[in-house]
Amino acid sequence: MNQQELAQIRKWYMYFADKYRAKDGSMHLVLQLKFDHSQRVAADCREIATELGWPDYEITTAEVIGLLHDVSRFPQFAEYKTFLDHRSFDHGERGYRIVSEAGIMSPLNGTEQAEILNSIRYHNRRNIDVELDPDCLRFLKLIRDADKLDILEVVYDTIKNNRHKDYPEILCHVNPDGPATPELIAEIRKYGYGSFEYVKSMTDMNLMRMTWVYNINYLPALRRLSERRLLEHLDETMLNDPDVEDLMRKARRFVNRETRNTEIRQVLRSYLLIRRWRYALSIPASREALETLPSFLFKRADM
Ligand SMILES: [Fe+2]
Repeated sequence: MNQQELAQIRKWYMYFADKYRAKDGSMHLVLQLKFDHSQRVAADCREIATELGWPDYEITTAEVIGLLHDVSRFPQFAEYKTFLDHRSFDHGERGYRIVSEAGIMSPLNGTEQAEILNSIRYHNRRNIDVELDPDCLRFLKLIRDADKLDILEVVYDTIKNNRHKDYPEILCHVNPDGPATPELIAEIRKYGYGSFEYVKSMTDMNLMRMTWVYNINYLPALRRLSERRLLEHLDETMLNDPDVEDLMRKARRFVNRETRNTEIRQVLRSYLLIRRWRYALSIPASREALETLPSFLFKRADM
């Protein structure tokens, strides 16, 4: 997809969102949150795809997916006054239908259309339980990562600014001051994920969000989660409880280990590749180049 096609889709999105504005141009606070969320997710999709080394036309496709993935949130709130899918409709499915029927996909080729539409359709599934070709899957994994990163930011910002008291729909109407549910703690401890039937409080809700770290697909996304201190922020929003603390500690350890190990693996791989090239070209490696990696590894292992 090129920049012109991106600009056309962006224009359509703005036009679609404008229908949910009041006469003075303002938007209901919760819809404004979704609107801003989509802009940030689009930017994250673009940046993560860039960091992954995807070609320009795919980076643009990734940005479009970020922008459109929650398009159905506007009619969902306008019609049902909720963001709960089970009380309204599956917002992935509805988004897929809205975009398919809008006629904005026709300038794109079949592969791009499939990547965008499938990503919108399945971005909110609990697990990726559909059969997709590898290209569609790459984009679907990307939007799921970028979406999670921003939801964690939004949740923290909402709680910190007490907006959930006036707008309980932002946090799906759970009890803001209730304790952690023991069944949920036990389930997460055993399987690494929990069931919504045990989610009764804000702490429960945030415990569920904590388990997302085990499902992040791409290292640049996990690195952002760590750099933005999203787990630490989540911790601030939960009631003090030794079981919760224990689960949080495990999640933090997992993120630290994964980001560190994957970085080390990447450096090792590049180092071995350079050595292989040097050998093939019979260029003697400088002593300095050979010493760089061991000192780097030593430093990382000590952290
Ligand atoms: Fe969504």
